[in-house]
Amino acid sequence: MAKRAPRFVCQECGAVTGRWAGKCDACGAWNSIVEEVGADPILAGTGKAPSVKGRRVQLQSLAGSDDEPPRLETGIGELDRVTGGGFVPGSVLLVGGDPGIGKSTLLLQAAARVAMGGDPVVYISGEEAIAQVRLRADRLSVTAAPVALAAETSVEDILATLSSGPRPALVIIDSIQTLYTSIAEAAPGTVSQVRASAQALIRYAKTSGATVVLVGHVTKDGQLAGPRVVEHMVDAVITFEGDGSHSFRLLRATKNRFGPTDEIGVFEMTGSGLKEVDNPSQLFLGERDTASPGAAVFAGMEGTRPLLVEIQALVAPSSLGTPRRAVVGWDSNRLAMVIAVLEARCGVRLAGSDVYLAVAGGLRITEPAADLAVAAALVSSLAGLALPSDCVYFGEVSLSGRVRSVAHAAGRLKEAEKLGFGQAVVPEAVTADSPKGLRTVAIGGLNDLLGRVF
Ligand code: TYD
Ligand code: MG
Repeated sequence: MAKRAPRFVCQECGAVTGRWAGKCDACGAWNSIVEEVGADPILAGTGKAPSVKGRRVQLQSLAGSDDEPPRLETGIGELDRVTGGGFVPGSVLLVGGDPGIGKSTLLLQAAARVAMGGDPVVYISGEEAIAQVRLRADRLSVTAAPVALAAETSVEDILATLSSGPRPALVIIDSIQTLYTSIAEAAPGTVSQVRASAQALIRYAKTSGATVVLVGHVTKDGQLAGPRVVEHMVDAVITFEGDGSHSFRLLRATKNRFGPTDEIGVFEMTGSGLKEVDNPSQLFLGERDTASPGAAVFAGMEGTRPLLVEIQALVAPSSLGTPRRAVVGWDSNRLAMVIAVLEARCGVRLAGSDVYLAVAGGLRITEPAADLAVAAALVSSLAGLALPSDCVYFGEVSLSGRVRSVAHAAGRLKEAEKLGFGQAVVPEAVTADSPKGLRTVAIGGLNDLLGRVF
């Protein structure tokens, strides 16, 4: 028998090489090349199909109905909103976030709520001892909940434990990086360990019908640590974000096979755990300084929920050859575009000025509908005149300087009225009736903004 040549496969892009290297030549990824044992008939050049006989499977038609098992609601509204109405039995979720952001807190609260509802829950902590988890439960006042606890890191032991008792409805693994399986030889936390452990737990979820929630840490550059491939393997990836200087936390689905990916859940971290925030707009507008120039309130949408947030701009004379443009919470390319349109179409001179833009409260906005509010904030700061404090803005700005319509105008206007705003500057094409207490100012182009607002 011919000696098999070693085979090294990049775990990022699948490129195959004959020798190990620190960097994959094909995709440029570092430390992604792993030796794979076992012959690949196609690469070995034999070209012969494997002689193993397959089993004939029953093909099915697209039509037909399967009774979908009911979702497992946690009773934490903001969490259920993000998952799309509760956990799907047999699915696997990955919850990512910076260390200390509150992942363990959120999941312990969810575990307690589900257990109180009568469904069996198992919480496995690989990071903390039982005593620490109990201390947290005490702080969250959930010690009465019948959650089964274990401090364990061996995947084999965990699976043996889970399969021996009654089937749990929910299993929480905190965190996937601490697990160890003897299938992979590498140390815990390495790519192959994380992948093999995740694979075993996903298999368990699919065969048992339990929902498995994996906690994952995030590296400094914001990626989920461990292989990206875990993100592809699980049914939903949920990230928990927020910054240290604010007490609120945002839950977002970046991938969801069973629900929307544009909903956010808003929580506030308090001394006794995470509290749901029912009216996020009030939270984000809480510390508004209405008398200063450069602040505009944007009537935005997060998923199906309107969210009012303040956009702050500072335009200051620059001493640099190339003025600074710094953005927090918005897209810097989008800011460059709005600045260019203001310069070219409205004659607003910003070329010699530094421009700083921030979305208040640490929120991140992705909607183009924020263009108009950004333009208003920039012009207000440049002119040194505060905008009317009871006014909201929304609309997308095109390169020609026109203000284009955006979706969900009615919802945005209603939220503004609810929070006591008296007027809204909106695109001309918006046809939604304005609520009673709100006056809408429809503008066709950015030029109108300059004329109407000051
Ligand atoms: P934790 O859930 O341990 O974060 P993670 O699992 O994401 O690493 O949360 C830790 C932080 O939350 C810690 O700084 C303390 C704070 N915290 C509160 O402010 N209130 C609470 O009730 C709890 C349990 C934690
Ligand atoms: Mg934790």
